[in-house]
Amino acid sequence: MSSSPPTPFADPAGTWNRRFEADGGYLFGTEPNAWLREHAGVWRPGQRVLCVADGEGRNSVWLARQGLAVDAFDIAEAGVAKARRLAAEHGVQVDFAVADCDGLAWPEGIYDGVAAIFVQFADPPMRERLFANIQRCLKPGGILVLQGYTPKQLEYRTGGPPIASHLYTQALLRDAFANMEILELQEYEAEVAEGSGHRGWSALIGMVARRSRNARGEHLGQCHAEGQD
Ligand SMILES: C[S@@+](CC[C@H](N)C(=O)[O-])C[C@H]1O[C@@H](n2cnc3c(N)ncnc32)[C@H](O)[C@@H]1O
Repeated sequence: MSSSPPTPFADPAGTWNRRFEADGGYLFGTEPNAWLREHAGVWRPGQRVLCVADGEGRNSVWLARQGLAVDAFDIAEAGVAKARRLAAEHGVQVDFAVADCDGLAWPEGIYDGVAAIFVQFADPPMRERLFANIQRCLKPGGILVLQGYTPKQLEYRTGGPPIASHLYTQALLRDAFANMEILELQEYEAEVAEGSGHRGWSALIGMVARRSRNARGEHLGQCHAEGQD
């Protein structure tokens, strides 16, 4: 009986280490993701942000350069080593860890922000755990900035996993983050030029969402909410 070849998701650390080691430069470039750059203004300098599955550090290092206190983790040691080098080159501090999102000791309610950029390695059960941890680690009022691909990306193949169940729709994100206040949720198509890993016309989805400010998970009105900081 022949066994089928392993999928990239069977050995994520090995697969991503090999990808990051094979790329002489930075697979996704050294500039931040465009959706993150456009929306990072939701956080103020000095606030604490977690970068989930940060790869080679382009997003965490850029956020640290904007004056944020940044923690970041990724499963791939080779990516984190490059991320540390990038931070050193820019003379900024990022608290990096090599960790599997399912093994991380997620803290409760300490972050002003979470950046989850292209974390579609997660299949539906893992995604449920990951999204729950992301929400839990935010302070009340903390803001998540998330970017991914939609199922239409399967036609373009310019980045992201070629597996429909890993991709996001507006309905999926609204449902997954039903306890958060969705500030922006947009499906759009655009030319992406983020290293050689994400390059070309792409079907994207971006979200900005706020953890509710009270224990009952209720969102307070905008004017009232602004006075709660
Ligand atoms: C498409 S890359 C995106 C990297 C980074 N967020 C960026 O935008 O440049 C996906 C990342 O997820 C990481 N990854 C895959 N499985 C993971 C897991 N179970 N836990 C943590 N990180 C994981 C990979 O090592 C890789 O760096």
